[in-house]
Amino acid sequence: MSAGKKTQRLDKILGNLGYGTRSEIKKYVKQGRVAINGAVVKDSGIQCDPGTDVVELDGERIFYREFVYLMLHKPPGVISATEDRREKTVLDLLPMDFQVFSPFPVGRLDKDTEGLLLLTNDGQLAHDLLSPRKHVPKTYEAVVLGHVGDAEAASFREGVELDDGYVTLPAELEVLEHGAEADGTRISRIQLTISEGKFHQVKRMFESVGSRVTYLKRLSMGPLLLDESLPLGAFRELTDSELESLRTYKGTGASKG
Ligand code: URA
Repeated sequence: MSAGKKTQRLDKILGNLGYGTRSEIKKYVKQGRVAINGAVVKDSGIQCDPGTDVVELDGERIFYREFVYLMLHKPPGVISATEDRREKTVLDLLPMDFQVFSPFPVGRLDKDTEGLLLLTNDGQLAHDLLSPRKHVPKTYEAVVLGHVGDAEAASFREGVELDDGYVTLPAELEVLEHGAEADGTRISRIQLTISEGKFHQVKRMFESVGSRVTYLKRLSMGPLLLDESLPLGAFRELTDSELESLRTYKGTGASKG
């Protein structure tokens, strides 16, 4: 299904909605059970626009939907893109019945980052959530090298200068625990909430305070929380209330200083 193209083959539309295989649908059509705009059709390959044409099977109207909204628990090792010649993408984790809607990731997580990734084909919602003016907060859990604490929290609250000179918006750092790796290297497990989405932002923020991220997971994006019952690599559709919370979300409007 290419972007912007509204019409699709009838057998594809019915197949995507789970009405059967292409050959089963061909049979239904041959049997005269399918009508478009009140007229029985005989060719299962006929093009129609599921948004505007009335498609009926055995006299029952078929309701097609335009948009899908998926929560993916992104695993490490896949890239946040819709296609790539070499790398496995997040789209490769979806079955065909969702791929046909051409969803795309709302924002990016690095290849080695895991956690919450929203996928949709609703460009308006994606645009709203990614709008820099909205300052949608995103919370990450991370393991970082060294013993981070109050000093780093204060720096992040003030804003830190990244390697390209950009000064970040205020961010909230919470230290969950301090520990050490087997070789004695000190580490900290933290949560960080940022309200912007610069390239590699969390990693670069920790670099700016002399640390390094060794593990990164996104827990939330605005009102949407990762469903921890989803195993890594699994996805589900958003619930109605999750979708509503995103649609009505106004952002925090955080500002510098
Ligand atoms: N910040 C990063 O550095 N990487 C991500 O994947 C997300 C936020």
